[in-house]
Amino acid sequence: MLVLGIESSCDETGMALYSSDAGGVLLAHALHSQVSMHADYGGVVPELASRDHIRRVVPLLRKVLADSGRSLAELDAVAYTQGPGLAGALLVGAAFAEALATALGVPTVPVHHLEGHLLSPLLSRRPPSFPFVALLVSGGHSQLMRVSGVGEYELMGETLDDAAGEAFDKTAKLLGLGYPGGPALAALADRGRPGLVKLPRPMLQSGNLDFSFSGLKTAVLTKVRERLTLSDQQRADIARGFQDAIVEVLVSKALRAVKVSGLKQLVVAGGVGANRELRRQLDAQVARTGIAVFYPEFEFCTDNGAMIALAGALRLQAGGACSKPAGAFAVRPRWPLTTS
Ligand code: KG4
Ligand code: ZN
Repeated sequence: MLVLGIESSCDETGMALYSSDAGGVLLAHALHSQVSMHADYGGVVPELASRDHIRRVVPLLRKVLADSGRSLAELDAVAYTQGPGLAGALLVGAAFAEALATALGVPTVPVHHLEGHLLSPLLSRRPPSFPFVALLVSGGHSQLMRVSGVGEYELMGETLDDAAGEAFDKTAKLLGLGYPGGPALAALADRGRPGLVKLPRPMLQSGNLDFSFSGLKTAVLTKVRERLTLSDQQRADIARGFQDAIVEVLVSKALRAVKVSGLKQLVVAGGVGANRELRRQLDAQVARTGIAVFYPEFEFCTDNGAMIALAGALRLQAGGACSKPAGAFAVRPRWPLTTS
C-alpha cells in the first residue's frame, strides 16, 4: 500500500511517500522549513505560515514523486495532519489532501500530529516494538504516554504549563538568541560551565509524572536581570544551567514512568528529542538497567511528512481510513491525543 503523507500544522511543510509493503519502507520525503521567514518576527506568524504552505505543497509533492519514481496513479491513500496546530496552516494540508484524494478516488487518513511524533522512531534502523513508554517533548506538548499499539495511548503525565520546547524557545529569547531557540540554546549550553548557574528542578520530587517549566524560565529571567550586561561566557553558563535543569527533570520523570509501567522500552520523540544532552543523560542512566531507549533519526525529531505517512499507513492497516461525503472535512486545531 502506497501512502502519501502531508504535514502542515505549524512552520514546516512536509511531504513523504511510505510503502507498507515488504515490512514498510519510506520511499521519499521532502521538507520546506519556514524558519528563516518567521525569524524576523521572533516566532511563527500564523497567516504567513498558511500562505507559505500553499506555495510549497505542489513542488514538494512533485519532488517526492520524482525522487521515488512513483506516480500519482499509484497512490492508495493520502494521510494528512488534521491537528493539533494552527488552524489556517492545517487547512492548507487538509484541503490539498482531500482534493487530491477525491480526484484520485482514494481514501484520506486524517492523522493526529502527536501520533506521528510518537510513532516516528518506528522509521529508524533500530525500531522499538509495542508496548513502550513515550516521552513526547515538542514545542507545544510535553507528555509521558504508555503506547500499547497503534491508537492505544494512555496519558501518564504532562506539563501543567509550558512545553519543554516552549521553555527552550522562551529561555533562548531571554538570552538574546533567535527563533527557534532550542537548537541555538543547546549550542550555547555546550560552551557553558556546569554547576555555575544553579536553577530549580521543577516538580522533580512531586511524586507524579507531571511537569512544569514556566518557573524555570522565570528563574532564568531573574538571573539575566541580576546583571546589567552579560558576557558571552555568562550567557553560556546560564544556558548550561537551564539545559541541565530541564534535562534532569525529563530524564528522571521518563525513567520513573518506565518503572511505573513495568515496561522495558522508552521512546523519545518530538523536537526536543533532538537535544544531544538529553540523549547523553538518558543513555548514561539506562546503562545496565535493561531499559532500551529509542530515538527517531535526527531529521524526524522535528516536524516532517514521513511520520504522517507512516502513521497514516499504520492507521489504514488498522482499518482507520476516513469515510465521509466527498469534499467534507474539518481540521482540529485543539485535539488531545487520548480522545478519538
Ligand atoms: O516537534 P516540533 O518540531 O514541533 C512541534 O510539534 O511543536 O518541536 C519543535 C521544538 C521547538 O520548541 C524547538 O526549539 C525544539 O523543538 N528543539 C530543540 C532542539 N531542536 C528542536 N530543543 C532543544 N534542543 C534541540 N536540539
Ligand atoms: Zn511537532
